[in-house]
Amino acid sequence: MRRVPLIVLGVGQVGSAFLAQLLHVRGHLQARYAVDLCPVALADSSGVLFDANGVSDHDLKVLLAQKAARVHLGEQPGALEAMYARELVAYAAGQGVEEAIVVDATAAAGMEPALRHALEIGYGVVLANKRPLAGAWEDSRIFFEHPRAQFEATVGGGLPVLATLRAMVDTGDRVERIEGALSGTLGYLCSRLEDGEAFSVIVGAAKARGYTEPDPREDLSGVDVARKMLILGRTAGWSLELGNLTVDPLYPSAMAEMSVEDFMSALPRLDSDFAAYIGALAGVPRYLAEIGPEGGLVSLRMVGERLAAQLRGRLNQVTFWTQLYHDRPLTISGPGIGRENAAAALLRDCLQLARTAAQR
Ligand SMILES: NC(=O)c1ccc[n+]([C@@H]2O[C@H](COP(=O)([O-])OP(=O)(O)OC[C@H]3O[C@@H](n4cnc5c(N)ncnc54)[C@H](OP(=O)(O)O)[C@@H]3O)[C@@H](O)[C@H]2O)c1
Repeated sequence: MRRVPLIVLGVGQVGSAFLAQLLHVRGHLQARYAVDLCPVALADSSGVLFDANGVSDHDLKVLLAQKAARVHLGEQPGALEAMYARELVAYAAGQGVEEAIVVDATAAAGMEPALRHALEIGYGVVLANKRPLAGAWEDSRIFFEHPRAQFEATVGGGLPVLATLRAMVDTGDRVERIEGALSGTLGYLCSRLEDGEAFSVIVGAAKARGYTEPDPREDLSGVDVARKMLILGRTAGWSLELGNLTVDPLYPSAMAEMSVEDFMSALPRLDSDFAAYIGALAGVPRYLAEIGPEGGLVSLRMVGERLAAQLRGRLNQVTFWTQLYHDRPLTISGPGIGRENAAAALLRDCLQLARTAAQR
């Protein structure tokens, strides 16, 4: 049995779902692949649970129940104080943890030093966090070029988008252009705009249902979509920067600095503009992104009925035009949203790294 230690950074929605899925399939993976994915460190923003021999399934279940009840890790008996991720990786190595996988299931900035160090000392890294992949190219390139870095969960919320793209690039196909509808939240919003509802009402409802981030501008700014598009473009082999994408937010810059409350109160001012835009042009609204070797565009636009029907609601869709898929592009489409899908993508990436390491 090959034991692969896991260092899990972030036990929020995705991190908790990942650990719950791991509990469920761990025995199956042991039996089928002779691989034991074994959590040795779990960290949230308050503290760290560490056991170089592996956190027991029983302790994991207790921890997940506590996190669901909003009890922080730092309050668990025996927990270590919070430490920087870089320190935690070094601590684990100092405790004799070898050939581990660091799973970044945070949305935190500043994880790069930890992830880079992990690669340097022979660990793998698996990311749900887009930020390390969307920084300056010189800082991020290691994660695109290193064979022990995987990040399927960052784009398409778990659909096998990056694995497909990577396979095309690795087998010599040349990618020409990529288009995507990459935000379930903005897909939901566009479908309801299409149904004639007011923009402010839709955003209010999406926020109330938890479809948006607590500050809906994180979705409406388009920056999250741009980061995903940049990750696709960089995986395609284009050393682009975020600044090479033109991003049209769904609110004017004057509303960027408001408090969330003021922003929500000011939203009805935008209703007539959206109604006029949609009424004036043929087609139906969709928030789409496209990228090529020179850069890209992320914006609301009007599309024909056929594409609109394909992109109804919270579906994600990515289309690749390549040398091989030239006249008829390759499209991947599905419900790319939700913590469970993202967690499953993390698990697949961990398993792939563990199995590849086992073959060396
Ligand atoms: N939710 C989804 O459906 C989804 C889908 C695809 C991808 N993603 C991506 O997955 C990542 C996680 O999303 P989420 O929804 O799970 O977020 P979340 O619920 O806010 O969880 C984030 C976790 O990270 C922890 N954390 C923050 N800073 C940390 C640090 N410096 N060291 C260790 N832990 C730290 C938080 O600690 P506390 O618990 O103490 O706050 C929390 O446990 C994000 O990058 C997101 O973009 C999410």
